[in-house]
Amino acid sequence: VDASGLRVDLLAATSADAVIVTAAHQYPLGGVLPADRRAALVAWAEARNSLVVEDDYDAEFRYDRAPIGTLQGLAPAHVAYAGSASKILAPGLRLGWLIAPPQLVEPLAAAKVSADMGSAALDQLAFADVLERGELDRHLRRMRSIYRRRRDALLSALAEHLPTLRPTGASAGLHVVAWLPAGLDEDRVVSNASAAGIGISGLRPRRIAPGPSGLVFGYGGIREDAIRPAVRRLAEVLRSAA
Ligand SMILES: Cc1ncc(COP(=O)(O)O)c(C=O)c1O
Repeated sequence: VDASGLRVDLLAATSADAVIVTAAHQYPLGGVLPADRRAALVAWAEARNSLVVEDDYDAEFRYDRAPIGTLQGLAPAHVAYAGSASKILAPGLRLGWLIAPPQLVEPLAAAKVSADMGSAALDQLAFADVLERGELDRHLRRMRSIYRRRRDALLSALAEHLPTLRPTGASAGLHVVAWLPAGLDEDRVVSNASAAGIGISGLRPRRIAPGPSGLVFGYGGIREDAIRPAVRRLAEVLRSAA
């Protein structure tokens, strides 16, 4: 995986028969899987008769880019599309949905029953009602502008107080990754930030191979007016960690 997502050429060299991708907004770096790699991924799945799980976890929130078509639409027989209420409404709901290739629908339903006997019926009915009344669309429209303002506040505070950090993947979602300048230890920055009352995480726990250091700024749960003071405080932390 790199900033624009999956390296399909490397995937083809493995014996994998399924792959999970966050094609619309790679988690955590935020890249969009480009059209040529989408086509290569679909060609790989078709040639190997394998499965792509498309985890579309946050793409309803996009700010300055056009919507991106799903992989599932390109190859419905080989892609299982997964969506979740977690980012668009509330993580506590624990509701999600799958559009799966037809031959997987029954086995998936059986697996869900053996895992937990199915999700809570009342929660599903309430969610269906929210959808039918158009409330989710209204909620998304409202939240898109709130999250965009938080994202803009974060980017402008980073540019002002931490100009040596390089943000990436900010065009969608509820988080921004910023690369740390060489010489700053990610773990040290994260633990010093925590000691200063700033909850932030690094890229290292999300890596399967070593790579450059970076910080993951989640702005889904922070008030807009709290962002700038927190970034200013983080800049002090970084100066003391340097
Ligand atoms: C990459 C990714 N996929 C999916 C999800 C949603 O997971 P769940 O629906 O279990 O809350 C998240 C939530 O943070 C995520 O970051």
